[in-house]
Amino acid sequence: MKIAVYPGTFDPITNGHLDIIKRASQIFKRVIVAVSENPHKKPIFSMEERRQLIQDAVIDLDNVDVDVFDGLLVHYAQKKGISVLIRGLRVLSDFEYEFQMALMNRKLMPTLETIYFMPSEEFTYINSTIVKEVARLGGEIGCFLPPGVVKALHRKIKEIKK
Ligand code: PNS
Repeated sequence: MKIAVYPGTFDPITNGHLDIIKRASQIFKRVIVAVSENPHKKPIFSMEERRQLIQDAVIDLDNVDVDVFDGLLVHYAQKKGISVLIRGLRVLSDFEYEFQMALMNRKLMPTLETIYFMPSEEFTYINSTIVKEVARLGGEIGCFLPPGVVKALHRKIKEIKK
C-alpha cells in the first residue's frame, strides 16, 4: 500500500479534482494533494488559500493530506519518499500534455510511476479555468465546486473587480 501524490495548481479545486481524490483515496494508503505555486498560470488564489480550500473539501477523507510545494515535483516526491504520482485524464486533449509530463517526470525520477484516473463523466468538461470564467460572467457554478469554494470564488471575483 503506497503513498501517492496528486499535484496540481488547484486554482481553485473543483468537483472534478475531488472526484479524482476520492477514487485515489480508496486505492492508496495515503494521498497527498500537493498544491504547486505555478506562477506562470497566474493563479487568482494564493497558495495558502488554495491549500485551505482543499483542506476544507477533503475534511471527511481520513487518509488525504494537503501540502504545498515549489520547485520540481520530483524533488518533492523524493523528499517525501513517494513512488506514485496521480493525475486525472478527462478528454483526448489532456493527453499530449500529460504524456509529456509523465515521460519527463519518469526521466527525472524513474522510480516515480504516474497513474491516471478518469473522473465521473459529469466532470469531463470542467476545469478551474472555465469555471472561473463562468463565475466572472455571472453564471451558476454551484454544481462544479465544493460549497466553500463557490463562496470563496464569488468573494475573490468581487475583490478583483474592485
Ligand atoms: O493542475 P495543473 O496546472 O495541470 O498541474 C501542473 C503541475 C503543477 C502538476 C505541473 O506543472 C508541475 O508538476 N509543476 C511543478 C514543477 C515541475 O515539476 N515541472 C516539471 C513537470 S514535468
